[in-house]
Amino acid sequence: MATGKRVQGGTSTSKLVQSAHIGDNAELFRRIMELHVPVHSRVADVTYGKGVFWKLIQPGTYELWASDIELAIKEQDMFVRYRDAVDCRELPYEDDSLDCVVLDPPYMEGFFRRSQTHRAGSGTHAAFRDAYADGRTYQADEGAPKWHDAVTDLYLRAGLEARRVLKPGGKLIVKTQDEVSANKQRLTHVEIITGYEDMGFYCKDLFVLVRSNAPAVSRLLEQVHARKNHSYFLVFELWKSRAKRPRSVRWSPERADPPSLERGADSAAAVDDSPKPKVAKPRKKVSKKRAKKATAKKKATAKKKATTKEVTAKKVTAKKKAAAKNKATAKNKATAKKKAAAKKKTAAKKKATAKKKR
Ligand SMILES: C[S@@+](CC[C@H](N)C(=O)[O-])C[C@H]1O[C@@H](n2cnc3c(N)ncnc32)[C@H](O)[C@@H]1O
Repeated sequence: MATGKRVQGGTSTSKLVQSAHIGDNAELFRRIMELHVPVHSRVADVTYGKGVFWKLIQPGTYELWASDIELAIKEQDMFVRYRDAVDCRELPYEDDSLDCVVLDPPYMEGFFRRSQTHRAGSGTHAAFRDAYADGRTYQADEGAPKWHDAVTDLYLRAGLEARRVLKPGGKLIVKTQDEVSANKQRLTHVEIITGYEDMGFYCKDLFVLVRSNAPAVSRLLEQVHARKNHSYFLVFELWKSRAKRPRSVRWSPERADPPSLERGADSAAAVDDSPKPKVAKPRKKVSKKRAKKATAKKKATAKKKATTKEVTAKKVTAKKKAAAKNKATAKNKATAKKKAAAKKKTAAKKKATAKKKR
């Protein structure tokens, strides 16, 4: 596994894992695993489907736990531990027990539609549906979010569950694709990144996968958005501590408090809370002339201050000198007075002695 660290004197190589890739899931997934997940790690692919992601990875490289709401495997691999009918939002694993979770749920709202005729993947989209999902559709729960919100809801709830089962520092590898839903551009990968960052994940890497096959021909009156021919693999790391975790800048007036990073916090806490963004105050634009004037003013003020300080210091010194002089004069006077008194006393004494003698 590549360490990803540039070492002084390291061997130069052009065989680096790159962020954009033309081809299929299996090849890019193999490279991502090589780069980010050490061999023998305990990995749970919680939307294993047909196991396409694992086609190019040597069996036994990882301790692989494969689950899905409905596994679609044709034959079992002796190295893989399979579990069918497992919802990725409620995993049968202990807290802090896995090194890596792989998540690839249906990522087009069309797969969640109730009416068969309105579901994605019918008619000309059939090939697309087969290439980008497993070709099936899913019944949204009663009262659950609809359309595109059903897609993000599943990602967010599965992300919270991954956070529970991952060890600190563990990896969450997520496959997704943006979509246009109800004629609106929905950047699913951005929603997932910000949502997961709020949960305590750090988005360590992002890969773009470009389809190598040509997109299907569509009958459109007018094209409004670019036809998507790319999807994403996002690599998240469960941050080990609160300190210095990098996160995207975001702003929302409703979100006052920082999100709870406590493990096991409910989804609402994870989704509704957000950090107070640290946004630098914009600097006022100042014209050159005004800036010059301001500098001159500052200099003048500083000079005035310095002069005032100097004058004050001189005054203080003079005052001190005068006080010292006064003190010395007073001392001299006292000494003279004392001397005169002593002299007077001596003279009086002498006079008295002479009188006695007489
Ligand atoms: C895009 S496919 C995954 C393909 C898979 N990565 C592969 O390599 O074959 C989406 C998968 O998500 C599964 N799925 C849908 N909802 C799920 C849920 N709530 N929990 C677990 N799996 C779910 C589907 O059964 C399907 O296999």
